[in-house]
Amino acid sequence: MKKTLEGKWALVTGSSRGIGRQIAIGLAELQCNVIVHGRELEHTHETLEIVQQKGVDALAVGAALDSEAGVAKLIAAVEGKEIDILYNNAAINCSSTPVFEFDQATWQKIFQVNVFAVTQLCNAFGPGMKSRNWGRIVNVSSGICDQPNLAPYSVSKAAIDKLTRDLAFEFKDTAVRVNAIDPGWIRTDLGGPDAWESVDTVLPGMLAPVLVADKGANGEYFQAQQFRFFE
Ligand SMILES: NC(=O)c1ccc[n+]([C@@H]2O[C@H](COP(=O)([O-])OP(=O)(O)OC[C@H]3O[C@@H](n4cnc5c(N)ncnc54)[C@H](OP(=O)(O)O)[C@@H]3O)[C@@H](O)[C@H]2O)c1
Repeated sequence: MKKTLEGKWALVTGSSRGIGRQIAIGLAELQCNVIVHGRELEHTHETLEIVQQKGVDALAVGAALDSEAGVAKLIAAVEGKEIDILYNNAAINCSSTPVFEFDQATWQKIFQVNVFAVTQLCNAFGPGMKSRNWGRIVNVSSGICDQPNLAPYSVSKAAIDKLTRDLAFEFKDTAVRVNAIDPGWIRTDLGGPDAWESVDTVLPGMLAPVLVADKGANGEYFQAQQFRFFE
């Protein structure tokens, strides 16, 4: 029997392009209603159209996550909607730099988008999931390692992994599940042209942490590429 998410609402950050767009499409194919997000509303149009063609309800929000106010704008734009699935996908990378030469502004910018925005969104939507006793939070991580030249990015993903485990403990007695997932090295704007895999290969794996059972995986680290041959 094919699983369905009919009637649920998912917010997928950074779904205007790249991996986030695939996640939005995959969710819509499971009949999940989707909130598409990008920095600017214009960036979201193409994904929104694809998602709507799947026959689900969808809306789009433009909000930069590089400030607390920007994140608040996203939260305010979906006020009144019960978010069942929060897919924290948006992130930025830094330019390759010798590790001791990263300035404070770079660390702060990367952590704002990749970590602080995620905590702000979890604060906004996690308590509602807990009180309704159902929810899924998925935090997109990375398998990056041994690249000190990208330390602010990789350290931000380590923070995401730890946050995921802390939140999982908070939700352990509920039907809210929170997990992290590594999409693999993917040819997107962030991954670059030399990456190993095309963007469509993130499905169906990126849906796995959404489809876990209510008493299933919590605080775990998924790898999307492992699901490619098991649909
Ligand atoms: N690609 C890889 O190889 C790879 C590997 C491991 C992990 N990941 C992770 O996978 C996730 C998606 O990556 P991707 O490769 O799909 O990236 P991408 O192609 O660069 O897309 C980034 C998405 O995030 C949004 N975004 C960027 N900066 C933002 C900001 N300041 N505020 C709000 N939204 C912002 C973009 O919106 P706009 O279109 O409006 O700019 C876009 O929708 C990230 O968490 C990344 O760390 C990727």
